[in-house]
Amino acid sequence: PAVLDLKAAVKCERALKDDTTPRGMKCCPPDFKESEVINFDPRNYWSPGLRVRPAAHKVSPQYAAKFREAVRRMKLLPEDDPRSFAQQAKIHCAYCNGAYHIAGTTDNDHRLQVHGSWLFLPFHRAYLFFFERILGSLVNDPSFAIPYWNWDHPDGMYMPSIYTQDGLSNPLYDDYRDEKHFKSLIDLGYGGDEIKKEDNTKIPEENQIFYNLWHMHVHVARPKEAELFMGGRYAAKDKYSINSPGTIERVPHTPVHIWVGDPEREYSEDMGSFYSAGRDPLFYAHHANVDRTWTIWKGLDGGRKEFDEADFLNNFFIFYDEKKKPVKIYVKDVLDEKILGYKYETSDTPWLDPLH
Ligand code: C2O
Repeated sequence: PAVLDLKAAVKCERALKDDTTPRGMKCCPPDFKESEVINFDPRNYWSPGLRVRPAAHKVSPQYAAKFREAVRRMKLLPEDDPRSFAQQAKIHCAYCNGAYHIAGTTDNDHRLQVHGSWLFLPFHRAYLFFFERILGSLVNDPSFAIPYWNWDHPDGMYMPSIYTQDGLSNPLYDDYRDEKHFKSLIDLGYGGDEIKKEDNTKIPEENQIFYNLWHMHVHVARPKEAELFMGGRYAAKDKYSINSPGTIERVPHTPVHIWVGDPEREYSEDMGSFYSAGRDPLFYAHHANVDRTWTIWKGLDGGRKEFDEADFLNNFFIFYDEKKKPVKIYVKDVLDEKILGYKYETSDTPWLDPLH
């Protein structure tokens, strides 16, 4: 059975305190009643053709200006508006820091945590869908699509400059990042320490690029089974965090979070902690690439098989849409991105065959 039911979804509570979360965090969305919740229907979210999510390092100045304007408007909305950037950021905390009880339970051991399980990919896909629709509506452009951070391509292995330029006057900038990494090549296997040679100097860039492609190869191209790639089964009555992440969640997903977050802050905010990750606009570009990677994985070997059991398909999440309506969206609603109305701008995937 599904991990969340409507009763549990309307009863959001404060986040659980743990090693990566301060005490007493309020992450709940504005209140809604069970009777107000509507079912997701893709026909309610029209766009003129598929929205094309561009690679962040290649966007035009016009696109960058529009995207900044959309995020700027989102940040200006009052905090209690479910479309505001502050509320969008809290969604991550609510679903990742135990603000919801698992269906049919009331104790603290049974709280919902979408990470470390098969809910990881579908949850973030649905989250980005509504985030993107809200941004589009704020600039009156239903064809607007969010960018993806193309960290699996050598040209995209830096923090995209649209997020780092111009300091705090840029709505895509975030003060709580690791400044040492603003201009450096990412390490997709990052665990908190830079890879160094024996004499303590940096490894050559071409080696780091090769390691990165290798990480992609090992964690995306090779794992054929859904359970390996997507994460472990998670169903009602399971405990808070079953801690069974898929290979894509382990690497490069989590290392990228750690690499971006500010290690000087107590919980490595923003990107380095679940409760605060959504506060960094770069989070959404990072997850767009995770999402793109899911689609690429699915297309390998003539079509890899996802989970198709009811315990997977019948899970749902609730998001406010651009009309401020709480929408119940099922895992089965998000398995085909074309139905959600978007696709990704193509970029080469040299990691499919890194030894070539
Ligand atoms: Cu919900 Cu990248 O974590």
